[in-house]
Amino acid sequence: MNKKVLLLGGAGFIGFNIAKFLGNKGTYDISIADNFFRAGGKIDELLQQLVDKHNIQIFKGDFTQPNAFEQLAKDYDYVYMLASVVGVDYVNKMPHEIIRINTALIYNTLEWLRHSKCGKVLFTSTSECYAGAIEAFDYAIPTPESVPLTIQDIGHPRFTYAVTKMLGESGFINYSRQLGFECSIVRYHNVFGPRMGFKHVIPHIVQRFRNNENPFKLYGHDQTRSFNYIDDAVEGTVLTMEKGGNGEVYHIGSMEEITIEELVKYTGELLGFKDEYVYAPTYPGSVARRCPDITKATKELGYEAKVDWKTGLEKTVKWYNDYLDANTELHESFYDNKNKS
Ligand SMILES: NC(=O)c1ccc[n+]([C@@H]2O[C@H](COP(=O)([O-])OP(=O)(O)OC[C@H]3O[C@@H](n4cnc5c(N)ncnc54)[C@H](O)[C@@H]3O)[C@@H](O)[C@H]2O)c1
Repeated sequence: MNKKVLLLGGAGFIGFNIAKFLGNKGTYDISIADNFFRAGGKIDELLQQLVDKHNIQIFKGDFTQPNAFEQLAKDYDYVYMLASVVGVDYVNKMPHEIIRINTALIYNTLEWLRHSKCGKVLFTSTSECYAGAIEAFDYAIPTPESVPLTIQDIGHPRFTYAVTKMLGESGFINYSRQLGFECSIVRYHNVFGPRMGFKHVIPHIVQRFRNNENPFKLYGHDQTRSFNYIDDAVEGTVLTMEKGGNGEVYHIGSMEEITIEELVKYTGELLGFKDEYVYAPTYPGSVARRCPDITKATKELGYEAKVDWKTGLEKTVKWYNDYLDANTELHESFYDNKNKS
């Protein structure tokens, strides 16, 4: 019998790709619950095609409201909890809303699980939860799951997102232990790929090259990151759901650590930029180095990052360049407009 899967926040970047991956396997009945804010409250064309192809059930609602959960079934085998407001722009513009929305989504999901009979839940967390430990305590890089979760400045808007993810990790592990469902956590590390939205570093860089920024500013040029191509992140997520230990956390990412300068300059090369680069200061609160230790996921789940950063970047830059050639209006206006009013 097919497994019954709910993707809460499934219209987003990672959720869409998990739906595609599971749909292609053909052994899952998939449902997506979302408020579709990234496409202004609508189902975008790519998602609609996927929904039609795999007969995906859609539940539209603002899941910060507990009654939105009433439309869902109560017996999913797997619940992927992906719903969240993500992106540095949002965090800086509306930190209070990050706290309200992400906390409400976590709390309402946990309370709904209390009254449901779901098998297993996966909560999606972030490397941002331990960024402070690297800076403050000079913690090991590549960084394993055992790192203490730390933020550097409780009052800084940037850390509101990480604080809600720490709540989520603790909330899902402790609710599951008390209430008899299973749970695993993934901590993602800079997932990237086509259709990732316009609030992340790679789409920003592509747009800046297209706007003919010259000389091109290299903000935080010597900072390092490890970029995890979406196909690998999806595989790691599904492996964590299906094989991950109960109450366990897994670092899902790539161990290829590169500088921002390498990332920007290769993007420039792909877009035919031949002019000048200048160094510029980094963004405040941005960690100097980040690279996950994925040994636990490799040993316990058989996870590996297969796509190297250059191959992933080539696919991503091409997708954004083609998209921006064909579209003048960017999605993701919903919260931006709401925040202005
Ligand atoms: N992309 C990354 O590199 C990355 C890194 C670390 C953690 N994560 C986490 O993984 C998860 C998925 O990330 P993503 O990149 O796909 O983000 P995304 O923004 O593309 O997807 C999040 C989804 O949540 C939905 N959502 C937001 N508010 C909602 C509400 N009130 N009701 C219902 N749905 C709502 C959005 O519409 C969106 O479809 C998120 O929880 C994110 O915090 C992602």
